[in-house]
Amino acid sequence: MSNIPNDLSAFWMPFTDNRGYKAEPRMFAKAAGMHYWTPDGRQVLDGTGGLWCVNAGHCRAPITQAIAQAAGELDFAPTFQLAHPSVFRLATRLAAITPEGLDHIFFTNSGSESVDTALKIALAYQRSIGQGTRTRLIGRQRGYHGVNFGGVSVGGIVGNRRQFLSLPGVDHLRHTHSHEHQAFTRGQPAWGAHLADELEGLVALHGAETIAAVIVEPMAGSTGVLPPPVGYLEKLRAITAKHGILLIFDEVITGFGRLGAPFAAQAFGVTPDLITMAKGLTNGAVPMGAVAAVGFVHDGIVNNALPGIELAHGYTYSGHPLAAAAGLATLDIYADEGLFERSAALTDVWADAIHGLRDLDVIHDIRTCGFVAGVEMKPKPGAPGARGKAVFHRAFDDGLLVRATADTIALSPPLIASEAEIGEIVDRLRAAIVAAA
Ligand SMILES: Cc1ncc(COP(=O)(O)O)c(C=O)c1O
Repeated sequence: MSNIPNDLSAFWMPFTDNRGYKAEPRMFAKAAGMHYWTPDGRQVLDGTGGLWCVNAGHCRAPITQAIAQAAGELDFAPTFQLAHPSVFRLATRLAAITPEGLDHIFFTNSGSESVDTALKIALAYQRSIGQGTRTRLIGRQRGYHGVNFGGVSVGGIVGNRRQFLSLPGVDHLRHTHSHEHQAFTRGQPAWGAHLADELEGLVALHGAETIAAVIVEPMAGSTGVLPPPVGYLEKLRAITAKHGILLIFDEVITGFGRLGAPFAAQAFGVTPDLITMAKGLTNGAVPMGAVAAVGFVHDGIVNNALPGIELAHGYTYSGHPLAAAAGLATLDIYADEGLFERSAALTDVWADAIHGLRDLDVIHDIRTCGFVAGVEMKPKPGAPGARGKAVFHRAFDDGLLVRATADTIALSPPLIASEAEIGEIVDRLRAAIVAAA
C-alpha cells in the first residue's frame, strides 16, 4: 500500500530538478531516531540530519509533545509590542549557550531570514553610532547564506546568484579551499590563514569607513564542507576589530553541536559580533531562526534610538509559540543527553571511518570537521555533478540518506548516531559510490 499522491504537478519544489524528480519521485512518510521510512515502508538511515537540522534525531517525544501542547494552549501571539512567556525563556536559554557577550536574541523563521536580519542589524548599528557611510557588505566566494536578497548578494555560489539581482556595494573574499595544499584534512587545514589578509586589501581599496560588516560561515557547509584554515578566523576577527567592521558568523549549519561545541565560535575560539542560527534550534521540527547580537551592537541601536521602535524589522512569526516550545524542548534534550559533548567525543571515530573511503579510485578529497564530512569525488568526464547525483540516488535506494552538492557528498548525521551507525553510513556510502562509478 502506498500513500504517494497521484498528482505531483502543483508543488513547485525548492532547489529541485522538478522534471527529473517528478519522473522518479522519492519521498519520506515517517521518521524516528536515526531513520526515515518511505511511503512503501523502506527504512532509510539518515546520514544528513534531514537537511543539516535534525541534530537530536527524529520525532523526539519531548519536542513533539511540547509542540502539541503549545498548539492547544496558545496557537499564535504577536511579538510586535506584545509577546508570550516562552519566547523570553527561549531567548534567555539561547543567550546562555552563545559565546559570552552575545546576549541579545532576535527571532526569525529560517536561516535565510536570520542572515538578512543580521545584515540589516549591522547596517542599522553603524548608522546608529554615526557611521552611516558604512554600507558595504563583504561575503566570501563559495559562501552560502540562504536565498533572500541579502544572503544571495553576500553568498558566493554562482548557481544561486546568476538568475537574480544582487545588492550593490558587496564584495567577496576568496574562498579558503585549495586541493593542492589541503587535500584529505581532518579538522582545520594548516594552510590558508593568509587568505584572510585579503580583507586588508578590500579595506585599502574601499576605505574602512565604507564597510559595515563581513559575513562568513565559520565552516562553509553547503559548498561542500570547507573547514577554516588554522588561524584564518582569528585573522578575520583581528582585522574587522581593527577597522570597526562587524564580524558575522553564519552558524545556520554549525550551530547546536555540529562541531562539538554549542557554536563553531566556541569550537574555534573566535567570537564574532553577530551569530545567525536556525535548523538545529528546533531540531528542524518547527521553522525557526535567530540572530544573537553582542551587547554593544544591541545597545548601539536600542539606546541611541529616538523614543519608539528602535529597529524597524521583524516577522509576523518571529518567536512563534510553537517554535519557542520546540526550541525549549530541543535545548533540554541537547543538555540532558550531552549531545554537544557527544559530537566532540565522536570526532575521531567519525574522521577515521570517513577517511577510510580514501582508497576508492573516484575519491578526489575528503574533509572532516567535528561531526561533518565532505567526500569529494572526481566528476564524470564532461558531466560535473552527475556522479554526486547518481551516488545520492543509489544510496537512497539502498537505505542511506546523503546530500550531494555537485560531486561532493556531505554528511552530517544526527548527533545521537551510534558508532555502529557511523560504520553503517560509511559502508553504505562506499557501496553506493562503487555502484554508481
Ligand atoms: C550557512 C547557511 N546559512 C543560511 C542558510 C539558509 O537557511 P534556510 O534554508 O533555513 O533559509 C543555510 C541553509 O542551509 C546555511 O547553510
